Amino acid sequence: MEDPVIQYSTRFDVREIRSMFPLLDQEVNGYPLTYFDNAATTQKPVSVIESLHNYYTGYNSNIHRGIHALAEKATEAYELTRLTIQEFINATEKEEIIFTRGTTEGINLIASTYGRKFLKQHDEVIITGMEHHSNIVPWQMICEETGAVLKIVPVSVTGELEMDEFEKMISNNTKIVSVVFASNTLGTINPVKEIIKIAHDAGAVVVLDAAQAVPHLDVDVRDLNCDFLAFSGHKMYGPTGVGVLYGKRKHLEAMPPYQGGGEMISEVTFEKTTYNDIPYKFEAGTPNIADVVALNEAVNFISNLGKRTIRTHEATLLAMATEGLKEIDTIKIYADHHHKVSVISFNIENMHPFDAGMLLDAKGIAVRTGHHCTQPLMARYGIEGTIRASFAVYNTLEEVDRLIKAVNRIAKR
Ligand code: ALA
Repeated sequence: MEDPVIQYSTRFDVREIRSMFPLLDQEVNGYPLTYFDNAATTQKPVSVIESLHNYYTGYNSNIHRGIHALAEKATEAYELTRLTIQEFINATEKEEIIFTRGTTEGINLIASTYGRKFLKQHDEVIITGMEHHSNIVPWQMICEETGAVLKIVPVSVTGELEMDEFEKMISNNTKIVSVVFASNTLGTINPVKEIIKIAHDAGAVVVLDAAQAVPHLDVDVRDLNCDFLAFSGHKMYGPTGVGVLYGKRKHLEAMPPYQGGGEMISEVTFEKTTYNDIPYKFEAGTPNIADVVALNEAVNFISNLGKRTIRTHEATLLAMATEGLKEIDTIKIYADHHHKVSVISFNIENMHPFDAGMLLDAKGIAVRTGHHCTQPLMARYGIEGTIRASFAVYNTLEEVDRLIKAVNRIAKR
């Protein structure tokens, strides 16, 4: 097999990648923009932007409804993305791919349909201590409604799941295990394959929040054997307002619809309505056609580069940032281990993360500061928030150097 480092060094040109992202070429506060807020949202390549433009200037039309030429073209483009996503995550069939607004909607959909139908009093739902609020609140809501009990796998000091505790916690009462694949705050990649095996042995289904995994890691739903997997387009170089929910056919067929309206029906009378087949049963109303169409280009961008190249470059950026920041005495890094996507969370002693974020912004460096929608994880570490730098394939070693130097200056203040 070809050495990934050799492949990376001979074929990867970050300048060429950057030239595909017009937004990156600008100054902010008098400095070249250093965009390190990619876990919040990535920038978009020209191919995605042009796809949106072409759709609206060339064939904007409603899908699955008209027989005129534009409607057929729009329907074809929309359904092509479904096929592309099926291949991208290795789903068995395209009907297992549902378009949503994003990861949040995907998880809410499962909780409101699968959860409402199958959970009853004293059943248990397991999540973890490093979940995003979007993988906490929907489960709290459905547990409150059904009388099910929410259990939490603790997070270790080093930012990893305490798997022993998970194994003690799981039982025949566990009906759903919903876990973040890669933490948005820490970067930790969780042992999801092991979690799925343990959960299935106990008879539970597994939901994966893959928002921070899909842009960086190979995600193969058949190899993982997960029951559901949700992710967002805008964190993987695609447009905002579009996401994907994968579900195994047997589950999707057993679930009631999420919303009522056009497209999700087979036949409506005032006496009784019958529902459409999957995936349309879950896509009520006119969907986000333009953004689904453009998502195809985002997947093509990733696939043309290859996840191995992306991962190798991002790992180099992360390693440099980690080593550089560790040399500063007053820095504390959370989750300083190697099983991570390209996210680094840290704090500067005696400085509020917001203040540090503003000082970095003054140098044109965009990071996210605060609790990152993971307040329980912040409580675990007894902090209000962190400074988070998250890297994408278009970031450079020079930009990481800029970050280290700027943090160094701020830490000395
Ligand atoms: N969930 C996104 C983040 O981590 C918004 O920043």
